[in-house]
Amino acid sequence: MILVTGSPGNIGTPLAQHLLRQGRKIRLMVRNPKKQDQVVADLQSHGAEIVQGDFADPKSLPHCFTGAESAFLLVPVAQETAEWKGNFVRIAEQNGVKRIVNLSVSGASSTTPIDLFRMHWEAEQTLESSGIAWTHLQPTDLARFNIRSILPTVEEQGAFYSSIGQGRVALVDEEDVAEVAAATLTENGHEGNKYVLTGPKAMSYPEIADALAKKLGKAVKYVDIDPAQAKKAMIAAGLPGWVADFINDLRELEKSGGASGPTGDIQRLLGRAPRSLEASIDAVFA
Ligand SMILES: NC(=O)c1ccc[n+]([C@@H]2O[C@H](COP(=O)([O-])OP(=O)(O)OC[C@H]3O[C@@H](n4cnc5c(N)ncnc54)[C@H](OP(=O)(O)O)[C@@H]3O)[C@@H](O)[C@H]2O)c1
Repeated sequence: MILVTGSPGNIGTPLAQHLLRQGRKIRLMVRNPKKQDQVVADLQSHGAEIVQGDFADPKSLPHCFTGAESAFLLVPVAQETAEWKGNFVRIAEQNGVKRIVNLSVSGASSTTPIDLFRMHWEAEQTLESSGIAWTHLQPTDLARFNIRSILPTVEEQGAFYSSIGQGRVALVDEEDVAEVAAATLTENGHEGNKYVLTGPKAMSYPEIADALAKKLGKAVKYVDIDPAQAKKAMIAAGLPGWVADFINDLRELEKSGGASGPTGDIQRLLGRAPRSLEASIDAVFA
C-alpha cells in the first residue's frame, strides 16, 4: 500500500492516476473527504482508498499509515512546510513506513535566500536523519500551473507580467514529475538519491510569450515590471502577501540563473526527454 498526499493537486492527481494504471494499491490522504471533490471521487472509483488526514493536526495522521509500506510526501505551499513534513516523517517512522518519496523543490538548500526553499531543505534533513529510505524530488517551476496562472491576462490583454527580466527557467511538466514520483515509489535503486526535475530547455519569459502566441494565434507579450508592482498585482489577484514575496524572491533568484535548470535527470530516469513547454501548453488547452 502506498500512501499518497497532495491529491487532488497539480502533482498528486497525475501521480495517483499513474499508480492506479499500474495496478498499485494506493490510499489518498485527503484533508476534507466531505468536500466531495470530483477528482477524488474519480480516483476512488478507480480503486484508490480515501483516508482523512490533515498536516496541521498530527493526531489525524497515524491511522493514515496503517498497512502502508511507502508514502509520497507533498505539502501545499505553506509557511509550516518544515513542521508539517517533520511531523509526517516522525509519525510515518513510528508506524513502520519503509520508504518516503519527498516532493521538495529545485534550489532547496541551507543558504538559499528563499525562506520556503530553506524549509524544504530542513525537511530533507529531517527525512535523511530518520530511519526511512528517502528520495527527494526537486522540481523547478511547474509548467501547466504557471501557464494557467498567466492565462487570465493573456486572454484579456494579450500580455502577462512578472519581474523575472531576462531570467530563464526550464519549466517542468507536472505529468513528468508524477511519472518520476511513480517510478521512485515503486522501483528499487532510488533510495538516498536527490533528483532535480526540469523541462528540456531554459526559456525566457519573452520566449514563453512567443510559444503562447503560436498556440493562440494572436500576439502575446511579456511585460517586465518591478517587484513592488508585481506584489501589488499578486495581492490584488488574491495571493497572500508572503506568497507574493516568495514569488518575487524566486524570480530574483531565477534572474541570476539560480534553480532554473535544465538537468538530465528526467531523461535518465524515464529513458526519454522531458515534455517541452509547447507540449505543456497543448495539455493546458486540451
Ligand atoms: N508550484 C510550483 O511551481 C512548484 C514547483 C516546485 C515545487 N513545488 C512544491 O510543490 C508543493 C505543491 O504541490 P502542488 O502544486 O501539486 O500542490 P497543490 O496542487 O496546491 O495541492 C496541494 C494539496 O495539498 C492538500 N492540502 C492542503 N492543506 C492540507 C493540509 N493541511 N493537510 C493535508 N492536505 C492538505 C490540498 O487539499 P485541499 O483541497 O484540502 O486544499 C491539495 O490536495 C509545495 O510543497 C511546493 O513548494 C511547487
